[in-house]
Amino acid sequence: MVQGPVTVTVTGAAGQIGYALLFRIASGHLLGADVPVKLRLLEITPALKAAEGTAMELADGAFPLLQSVDISDDPRVAFDGANVALLVGARPRTKGMERGDLLEANGGIFKPQGAAINEVAADDIKVLVVGNPANTNALIAQAHAPDVPAERFTAMTRLDHNRAISQLAAKLDVPVTAIKKLTIWGNHSATQYPDLFHAEVNGKVAAEQVDEAWLRDTFIPTVAKRGAAIIEARGASSAASAASAAIDHVFTWVNGTAEGDWTSAAIPSDGSYGVPEGLISSFPVTAKDGKFSIVPGLEIDAFSRERIDASVAELGEERDAVRGLGLI
Ligand code: NAD
Ligand code: LMR
Repeated sequence: MVQGPVTVTVTGAAGQIGYALLFRIASGHLLGADVPVKLRLLEITPALKAAEGTAMELADGAFPLLQSVDISDDPRVAFDGANVALLVGARPRTKGMERGDLLEANGGIFKPQGAAINEVAADDIKVLVVGNPANTNALIAQAHAPDVPAERFTAMTRLDHNRAISQLAAKLDVPVTAIKKLTIWGNHSATQYPDLFHAEVNGKVAAEQVDEAWLRDTFIPTVAKRGAAIIEARGASSAASAASAAIDHVFTWVNGTAEGDWTSAAIPSDGSYGVPEGLISSFPVTAKDGKFSIVPGLEIDAFSRERIDASVAELGEERDAVRGLGLI
Protein backbone atom coordinates (compact mmCIF):
# COMPACT_ATOMS: atom_id res chain seq x y z
CA MET A 1 0.00 0.00 0.00
CA VAL A 2 1.41 3.37 -1.04
CA GLN A 3 1.53 6.14 1.57
CA GLY A 4 1.00 9.61 0.19
CA PRO A 5 1.61 12.26 -0.85
CA VAL A 6 3.61 11.02 -3.83
CA THR A 7 5.54 13.50 -5.98
CA VAL A 8 5.07 12.74 -9.68
CA THR A 9 7.11 14.57 -12.32
CA VAL A 10 5.81 14.61 -15.89
CA THR A 11 8.03 15.86 -18.70
CA GLY A 12 6.52 17.15 -21.92
CA ALA A 13 3.56 18.14 -19.79
CA ALA A 14 2.15 20.56 -22.37
CA GLY A 15 2.12 17.93 -25.12
CA GLN A 16 -0.69 15.68 -26.28
CA ILE A 17 0.09 12.74 -24.01
CA GLY A 18 0.64 15.11 -21.10
CA TYR A 19 -2.82 16.56 -21.59
CA ALA A 20 -4.43 13.12 -21.39
CA LEU A 21 -2.16 11.89 -18.60
CA LEU A 22 -2.24 14.67 -16.03
CA PHE A 23 -5.96 14.51 -15.36
CA ARG A 24 -5.89 10.78 -14.77
CA ILE A 25 -2.96 11.17 -12.37
CA ALA A 26 -4.88 13.91 -10.56
CA SER A 27 -7.93 11.68 -10.22
CA GLY A 28 -5.97 8.88 -8.56
CA HIS A 29 -5.52 6.38 -11.37
CA LEU A 30 -1.71 6.32 -11.35
CA LEU A 31 -1.13 5.15 -7.80
CA GLY A 32 -4.48 4.45 -6.18
CA ALA A 33 -7.76 6.14 -5.33
CA ASP A 34 -6.57 7.08 -1.83
CA VAL A 35 -3.05 8.37 -2.62
CA PRO A 36 -2.54 12.16 -2.60
CA VAL A 37 -0.34 13.46 -5.39
CA LYS A 38 1.96 16.44 -5.93
CA LEU A 39 2.51 17.15 -9.59
CA ARG A 40 5.65 18.65 -11.10
CA LEU A 41 5.51 19.60 -14.75
CA LEU A 42 8.70 19.93 -16.78
CA GLU A 43 8.57 21.72 -20.12
CA ILE A 44 10.92 23.60 -22.40
CA THR A 45 10.79 27.37 -21.93
CA PRO A 46 8.59 28.15 -24.99
CA ALA A 47 5.95 25.69 -23.78
CA LEU A 48 5.77 26.97 -20.18
CA LYS A 49 2.74 29.15 -20.94
CA ALA A 50 0.83 26.19 -22.38
CA ALA A 51 1.79 24.18 -19.28
CA GLU A 52 0.37 27.03 -17.15
CA GLY A 53 -2.89 26.66 -19.06
CA THR A 54 -3.01 22.94 -18.28
CA ALA A 55 -2.25 23.71 -14.63
CA MET A 56 -5.19 26.16 -14.60
CA GLU A 57 -7.44 23.36 -15.88
CA LEU A 58 -6.07 20.99 -13.26
CA ALA A 59 -7.03 23.56 -10.62
CA ASP A 60 -10.47 23.83 -12.19
CA GLY A 61 -10.92 20.07 -11.78
CA ALA A 62 -10.85 20.53 -7.96
CA PHE A 63 -9.35 17.04 -7.64
CA PRO A 64 -9.47 15.95 -3.98
CA LEU A 65 -6.16 14.04 -4.25
CA LEU A 66 -4.18 16.76 -6.01
CA GLN A 67 -2.14 18.68 -3.43
CA SER A 68 -0.05 20.90 -5.70
CA VAL A 69 1.06 21.61 -9.26
CA ASP A 70 4.47 23.18 -9.93
CA ILE A 71 5.88 24.02 -13.34
CA SER A 72 9.50 24.44 -14.34
CA ASP A 73 11.85 24.39 -17.31
CA ASP A 74 14.73 23.25 -15.07
CA PRO A 75 15.10 19.47 -14.60
CA ARG A 76 16.82 20.03 -11.24
CA VAL A 77 13.73 21.80 -9.96
CA ALA A 78 11.18 19.52 -11.61
CA PHE A 79 12.70 16.24 -10.38
CA ASP A 80 13.45 17.49 -6.86
CA GLY A 81 12.08 14.87 -4.48
CA ALA A 82 10.28 13.00 -7.28
CA ASN A 83 9.05 9.51 -6.42
CA VAL A 84 7.75 8.79 -9.91
CA ALA A 85 9.07 10.33 -13.14
CA LEU A 86 7.18 10.00 -16.40
CA LEU A 87 9.54 11.01 -19.19
CA VAL A 88 7.15 11.85 -22.00
CA GLY A 89 8.76 14.87 -23.65
CA ALA A 90 11.01 13.90 -26.53
CA ARG A 91 12.20 15.22 -29.84
CA PRO A 92 9.90 13.93 -32.58
CA ARG A 93 11.43 12.90 -35.88
CA THR A 94 10.96 15.68 -38.42
CA LYS A 95 11.40 15.70 -42.17
CA GLY A 96 14.92 14.99 -43.36
CA MET A 97 16.05 13.78 -39.94
CA GLU A 98 18.11 10.60 -39.90
CA ARG A 99 17.83 8.08 -37.07
CA GLY A 100 21.23 9.17 -35.76
CA ASP A 101 20.04 12.80 -35.63
CA LEU A 102 17.01 11.70 -33.63
CA LEU A 103 19.11 9.72 -31.18
CA GLU A 104 21.48 12.66 -30.77
CA ALA A 105 18.64 15.16 -30.24
CA ASN A 106 17.11 12.88 -27.63
CA GLY A 107 20.49 12.45 -25.98
CA GLY A 108 20.37 16.18 -25.35
CA ILE A 109 17.13 15.67 -23.43
CA PHE A 110 17.60 12.37 -21.60
CA LYS A 111 21.23 12.90 -20.54
CA PRO A 112 20.53 16.01 -18.41
CA GLN A 113 17.26 14.53 -17.17
CA GLY A 114 19.04 11.34 -16.02
CA ALA A 115 21.69 13.47 -14.30
CA ALA A 116 19.05 15.58 -12.56
CA ILE A 117 17.17 12.46 -11.40
CA ASN A 118 20.46 11.16 -10.01
CA GLU A 119 21.06 14.37 -8.08
CA VAL A 120 17.69 15.43 -6.75
CA ALA A 121 15.01 12.71 -7.03
CA ALA A 122 13.80 10.76 -3.99
CA ASP A 123 15.63 7.54 -3.08
CA ASP A 124 12.69 5.43 -4.23
CA ILE A 125 12.41 7.10 -7.67
CA LYS A 126 10.70 5.01 -10.36
CA VAL A 127 11.18 6.15 -13.96
CA LEU A 128 9.01 5.34 -16.96
CA VAL A 129 10.22 6.54 -20.35
CA VAL A 130 7.44 7.08 -22.91
CA GLY A 131 9.21 9.46 -25.32
CA ASN A 132 10.56 7.66 -28.39
CA PRO A 133 12.79 5.82 -29.04
CA ALA A 134 11.66 4.85 -25.54
CA ASN A 135 13.93 1.88 -24.77
CA THR A 136 17.09 3.67 -25.84
CA ASN A 137 16.09 6.97 -24.25
CA ALA A 138 15.69 5.02 -21.00
CA LEU A 139 19.18 3.60 -21.48
CA ILE A 140 20.59 7.13 -21.93
CA ALA A 141 18.85 8.48 -18.81
CA GLN A 142 19.95 5.44 -16.79
CA ALA A 143 23.58 5.86 -17.87
CA HIS A 144 23.60 9.33 -16.30
CA ALA A 145 22.07 8.24 -13.03
CA PRO A 146 24.72 5.92 -11.58
CA ASP A 147 23.43 6.25 -8.01
CA VAL A 148 19.91 5.10 -8.89
CA PRO A 149 19.45 1.31 -9.05
CA ALA A 150 19.44 0.41 -12.76
CA GLU A 151 16.11 -1.43 -12.57
CA ARG A 152 14.28 1.79 -11.69
CA PHE A 153 14.61 2.85 -15.34
CA THR A 154 11.90 1.32 -17.50
CA ALA A 155 10.38 2.01 -20.91
CA MET A 156 6.81 1.63 -22.07
CA THR A 157 5.57 -1.35 -24.03
CA ARG A 158 2.27 -1.50 -22.13
CA LEU A 159 0.53 0.25 -25.01
CA ASP A 160 1.67 -2.54 -27.33
CA HIS A 161 0.53 -5.08 -24.71
CA ASN A 162 -2.90 -3.46 -24.48
CA ARG A 163 -3.18 -3.27 -28.27
CA ALA A 164 -2.35 -6.98 -28.57
CA ILE A 165 -4.96 -7.92 -25.97
CA SER A 166 -7.56 -5.82 -27.75
CA GLN A 167 -6.82 -7.31 -31.19
CA LEU A 168 -6.96 -10.87 -29.86
CA ALA A 169 -10.16 -10.24 -27.88
CA ALA A 170 -11.83 -8.85 -31.01
CA LYS A 171 -10.69 -11.81 -33.11
CA LEU A 172 -12.00 -14.39 -30.64
CA ASP A 173 -15.02 -12.33 -29.58
CA VAL A 174 -14.11 -12.57 -25.90
CA PRO A 175 -13.84 -9.81 -23.29
CA VAL A 176 -10.33 -8.43 -22.79
CA THR A 177 -10.45 -9.85 -19.26
CA ALA A 178 -10.45 -13.40 -20.71
CA ILE A 179 -6.85 -12.87 -21.89
CA LYS A 180 -3.90 -13.46 -19.56
CA LYS A 181 -0.14 -13.83 -19.82
CA LEU A 182 0.30 -11.92 -23.04
CA THR A 183 3.88 -10.79 -23.72
CA ILE A 184 5.49 -8.10 -25.83
CA TRP A 185 9.16 -8.91 -26.35
CA GLY A 186 11.91 -6.51 -27.44
CA ASN A 187 11.75 -2.94 -28.65
CA HIS A 188 8.84 -0.47 -28.76
CA SER A 189 9.14 -0.38 -32.53
CA ALA A 190 7.87 -2.26 -35.54
CA THR A 191 10.24 -5.15 -34.67
CA GLN A 192 8.47 -5.89 -31.38
CA TYR A 193 7.13 -9.41 -30.96
CA PRO A 194 3.68 -9.92 -29.47
CA ASP A 195 3.68 -13.54 -28.22
CA LEU A 196 0.52 -15.67 -28.22
CA PHE A 197 2.30 -18.95 -27.45
CA HIS A 198 2.38 -18.25 -23.73
CA ALA A 199 -0.80 -16.19 -23.63
CA GLU A 200 -4.02 -17.76 -22.43
CA VAL A 201 -7.63 -17.16 -23.39
CA ASN A 202 -10.04 -18.51 -20.79
CA GLY A 203 -7.18 -20.64 -19.50
CA LYS A 204 -6.23 -22.20 -22.85
CA VAL A 205 -3.19 -21.42 -25.02
CA ALA A 206 -4.07 -18.44 -27.24
CA ALA A 207 -1.96 -19.54 -30.23
CA GLU A 208 -4.00 -22.75 -30.45
CA GLN A 209 -7.24 -20.78 -30.77
CA VAL A 210 -6.26 -18.81 -33.88
CA ASP A 211 -4.92 -20.01 -37.19
CA GLU A 212 -1.23 -19.65 -37.83
CA ALA A 213 -1.63 -17.44 -40.90
CA TRP A 214 -3.71 -14.91 -38.93
CA LEU A 215 -1.18 -14.91 -36.09
CA ARG A 216 1.77 -14.43 -38.44
CA ASP A 217 0.37 -12.23 -41.20
CA THR A 218 -2.32 -10.20 -39.45
CA PHE A 219 -1.94 -10.16 -35.67
CA ILE A 220 1.80 -9.55 -35.36
CA PRO A 221 2.03 -6.78 -38.01
CA THR A 222 -1.22 -5.12 -36.86
CA VAL A 223 0.07 -4.80 -33.30
CA ALA A 224 3.62 -3.87 -34.33
CA LYS A 225 2.49 -1.20 -36.79
CA ARG A 226 -0.46 0.13 -34.81
CA GLY A 227 1.42 3.30 -33.85
CA ALA A 228 1.92 4.15 -37.52
CA ALA A 229 -1.73 3.31 -38.30
CA ILE A 230 -2.90 5.72 -35.59
CA ILE A 231 -0.63 8.46 -36.97
CA GLU A 232 -2.07 7.82 -40.44
CA ALA A 233 -5.67 7.99 -39.16
CA ARG A 234 -5.42 10.85 -36.64
CA GLY A 235 -2.67 12.86 -38.21
CA ALA A 236 -0.90 12.70 -34.85
CA SER A 237 0.57 9.92 -32.75
CA SER A 238 -1.48 8.07 -30.18
CA ALA A 239 -2.05 10.17 -27.09
CA ALA A 240 -4.96 9.08 -24.86
CA SER A 241 -4.14 5.38 -25.31
CA ALA A 242 -0.46 6.08 -24.64
CA ALA A 243 -1.37 8.04 -21.49
CA SER A 244 -3.65 5.22 -20.39
CA ALA A 245 -0.87 2.67 -20.88
CA ALA A 246 1.54 4.83 -18.87
CA ILE A 247 -1.01 4.86 -16.05
CA ASP A 248 -1.32 1.06 -16.30
CA HIS A 249 2.48 0.58 -16.26
CA VAL A 250 3.05 2.61 -13.11
CA PHE A 251 -0.09 1.35 -11.33
CA THR A 252 1.03 -2.24 -11.90
CA TRP A 253 4.63 -1.47 -10.88
CA VAL A 254 3.48 0.06 -7.61
CA ASN A 255 0.46 -2.12 -6.82
CA GLY A 256 1.52 -5.47 -8.31
CA THR A 257 0.29 -7.92 -10.94
CA ALA A 258 -2.66 -10.20 -10.28
CA GLU A 259 -2.05 -13.82 -9.25
CA GLY A 260 -1.82 -16.02 -12.34
CA ASP A 261 -1.12 -13.20 -14.75
CA TRP A 262 1.74 -11.04 -15.93
CA THR A 263 2.23 -7.92 -18.02
CA SER A 264 4.82 -6.49 -20.43
CA ALA A 265 7.39 -3.84 -19.59
CA ALA A 266 10.77 -2.87 -20.98
CA ILE A 267 13.22 -3.31 -18.10
CA PRO A 268 17.00 -3.79 -17.93
CA SER A 269 17.83 -7.34 -18.98
CA ASP A 270 19.54 -9.63 -16.48
CA GLY A 271 20.58 -11.83 -19.41
CA SER A 272 17.32 -13.82 -19.40
CA TYR A 273 16.06 -15.32 -22.66
CA GLY A 274 19.32 -14.53 -24.45
CA VAL A 275 18.79 -10.76 -24.18
CA PRO A 276 22.20 -9.15 -23.49
CA GLU A 277 22.48 -7.93 -19.92
CA GLY A 278 21.71 -4.24 -19.53
CA LEU A 279 19.60 -3.76 -22.67
CA ILE A 280 16.23 -2.24 -21.78
CA SER A 281 14.02 -4.75 -23.53
CA SER A 282 10.40 -5.78 -23.12
CA PHE A 283 9.77 -9.01 -21.20
CA PRO A 284 6.94 -10.85 -19.53
CA VAL A 285 7.06 -9.39 -16.01
CA THR A 286 5.32 -9.71 -12.70
CA ALA A 287 5.34 -6.92 -10.14
CA LYS A 288 5.43 -7.28 -6.37
CA ASP A 289 6.40 -4.91 -3.55
CA GLY A 290 7.25 -2.19 -6.08
CA LYS A 291 9.61 -4.36 -8.14
CA PHE A 292 9.31 -5.91 -11.58
CA SER A 293 10.67 -9.44 -12.11
CA ILE A 294 11.12 -11.24 -15.40
CA VAL A 295 8.91 -14.34 -15.61
CA PRO A 296 11.42 -17.21 -15.64
CA GLY A 297 11.54 -20.52 -17.45
CA LEU A 298 9.30 -20.03 -20.50
CA GLU A 299 10.07 -22.30 -23.42
CA ILE A 300 10.82 -20.34 -26.55
CA ASP A 301 10.22 -22.14 -29.85
CA ALA A 302 12.00 -21.35 -33.14
CA PHE A 303 9.19 -19.06 -34.39
CA SER A 304 9.37 -16.88 -31.28
CA ARG A 305 13.17 -17.10 -31.02
CA GLU A 306 13.67 -15.63 -34.46
CA ARG A 307 11.38 -12.67 -33.73
CA ILE A 308 12.73 -11.96 -30.25
CA ASP A 309 16.27 -12.06 -31.61
CA ALA A 310 15.44 -9.61 -34.42
CA SER A 311 13.97 -7.03 -32.04
CA VAL A 312 16.79 -7.46 -29.53
CA ALA A 313 19.33 -7.05 -32.34
CA GLU A 314 17.71 -3.70 -33.18
CA LEU A 315 18.02 -2.63 -29.54
CA GLY A 316 21.69 -3.60 -29.66
CA GLU A 317 22.17 -1.43 -32.75
CA GLU A 318 20.46 1.53 -31.05
CA ARG A 319 22.68 1.07 -28.00
CA ASP A 320 25.78 0.94 -30.18
CA ALA A 321 24.66 4.10 -32.01
CA VAL A 322 24.19 6.11 -28.79
CA ARG A 323 27.46 4.72 -27.49
CA GLY A 324 29.12 5.90 -30.69
CA LEU A 325 27.65 9.36 -30.10
CA GLY A 326 29.09 9.39 -26.58
CA LEU A 327 25.61 9.48 -25.01
CA ILE A 328 26.12 6.47 -22.76
P1 NAD B 1 3.99 16.24 -28.25
O1 NAD B 1 4.91 16.75 -29.31
O2 NAD B 1 2.54 16.58 -28.30
O3 NAD B 1 4.53 16.69 -26.83
C1 NAD B 1 5.87 16.58 -26.47
C2 NAD B 1 6.14 17.68 -25.47
O4 NAD B 1 7.46 17.49 -24.97
C3 NAD B 1 6.07 19.09 -26.06
O5 NAD B 1 5.17 19.87 -25.31
C4 NAD B 1 7.51 19.60 -25.94
O6 NAD B 1 7.58 20.99 -25.67
C5 NAD B 1 8.00 18.76 -24.76
N1 NAD B 1 9.47 18.67 -24.65
C6 NAD B 1 10.38 18.58 -25.64
N2 NAD B 1 11.62 18.58 -25.13
C7 NAD B 1 11.48 18.62 -23.80
C8 NAD B 1 12.41 18.64 -22.72
N3 NAD B 1 13.72 18.62 -22.93
N4 NAD B 1 11.92 18.69 -21.46
C9 NAD B 1 10.61 18.73 -21.24
N5 NAD B 1 9.67 18.72 -22.21
C10 NAD B 1 10.12 18.66 -23.47
O7 NAD B 1 4.20 14.65 -28.24
P2 NAD B 1 3.28 13.53 -27.58
O8 NAD B 1 2.24 13.12 -28.56
O9 NAD B 1 2.86 13.96 -26.22
O10 NAD B 1 4.32 12.33 -27.52
C11 NAD B 1 5.44 12.41 -26.69
C12 NAD B 1 6.41 11.27 -26.98
O11 NAD B 1 5.81 10.02 -26.69
C13 NAD B 1 6.86 11.17 -28.45
O12 NAD B 1 8.24 10.86 -28.46
C14 NAD B 1 6.07 9.99 -28.99
O13 NAD B 1 6.70 9.38 -30.08
C15 NAD B 1 6.07 9.11 -27.77
N6 NAD B 1 5.07 8.03 -27.74
C16 NAD B 1 5.46 6.85 -27.17
C17 NAD B 1 4.57 5.80 -27.08
C18 NAD B 1 4.96 4.49 -26.45
O14 NAD B 1 4.15 3.55 -26.48
N7 NAD B 1 6.15 4.32 -25.86
C19 NAD B 1 3.27 5.96 -27.58
C20 NAD B 1 2.90 7.18 -28.13
C21 NAD B 1 3.82 8.21 -28.21
C1 LMR C 1 2.88 4.53 -30.81
O1 LMR C 1 3.21 3.36 -30.60
O2 LMR C 1 1.70 4.89 -30.91
C2 LMR C 1 3.97 5.57 -30.96
O3 LMR C 1 5.15 5.12 -30.41
C3 LMR C 1 4.12 5.91 -32.41
C4 LMR C 1 5.09 7.03 -32.66
O4 LMR C 1 5.96 6.84 -33.52
O5 LMR C 1 4.99 8.07 -31.99
